[in-house]
Amino acid sequence: MSRIAYVNGQYELMGAASVHIEDRGYQFADGVYEVCEIRGAKIVDFTKHMTRLQRSLRELRIAMPMALASLKIVVQEVVRRNRVRNGIVYLQVSRGVSRRDHAFPTHPVSPSVVVTARSINPQKGSDTAARGIKVITQPENRWPRVDIKSVSLLPNVLAKQAAKEQGAGEAWFVDRDGFVTEGSSTNAWIVTSDNRVITRSAETGILAGITRAVLIDVLAAMQLKLEERPFTPAEAAQAKEAFVTASSQIVMPVIAIDDKLIGDGKPGVMAKRLREEFHRFAEFV
Ligand code: PDD
Repeated sequence: MSRIAYVNGQYELMGAASVHIEDRGYQFADGVYEVCEIRGAKIVDFTKHMTRLQRSLRELRIAMPMALASLKIVVQEVVRRNRVRNGIVYLQVSRGVSRRDHAFPTHPVSPSVVVTARSINPQKGSDTAARGIKVITQPENRWPRVDIKSVSLLPNVLAKQAAKEQGAGEAWFVDRDGFVTEGSSTNAWIVTSDNRVITRSAETGILAGITRAVLIDVLAAMQLKLEERPFTPAEAAQAKEAFVTASSQIVMPVIAIDDKLIGDGKPGVMAKRLREEFHRFAEFV
């Protein structure tokens, strides 16, 4: 089936869809994005994703391209037209089209909006989760404003490629103080021997993941202990379990860090349980 994209007011065949060559998203990575999980043809945690989108836009002084209710209709329509039951929807908003100049356009410019969706076989994710993934570490080399979900992802791209080339599924960035910040497209977690669940506070160094936020609700409901603090790769290597979270991966067990096995080198019990429980706490629209 041909895929359909929404581009600036039109639903178009993906192969024919295009944006202007002077779009600031293309020239300066001057834009933001969101990725939401689609499950059972419903969008997962849409409200939280839109709240974060609006925050990212505000931080970059890009206007919201349309009313939230309209954006919801567009996203749902792209999911429907592509007949996605399980997969992801991608939404990108850039500052818009203007003659190339680093400073913001001085004349009013409409933000550009692109929405795409694609199916992902849920069995693939389950199979990967049953095996677990390895992570490697990489020096943190991103700008400090990683709280903004910007499309400027070059360090993330290079880190993920390095992971792939080393047979790993994710790269964890390590800051100058020796602490893990987050993965190239995921938040990072460990579980201690006495079952405390550790993840870095969203105050610095990470994107405030939506999966992370929902998982914190899951932990509270299950009366599990959460500690929001940084941890080192050495602590992770000694941990009972580790896992990563993202809308595209839910809870994904980590079985090794830089080739050092975590626990018995198999997906942890807690990670498996949290993966199973997650959607009971998520919003579906
Ligand atoms: N990535 N940290 C980074 C750097 C991310 O890019 C992401 C998401 C996350 C997890 O956020 P959330 O739980 O809201 O998905 C953390 C998306 C999935 C991506 O770029 O494809």
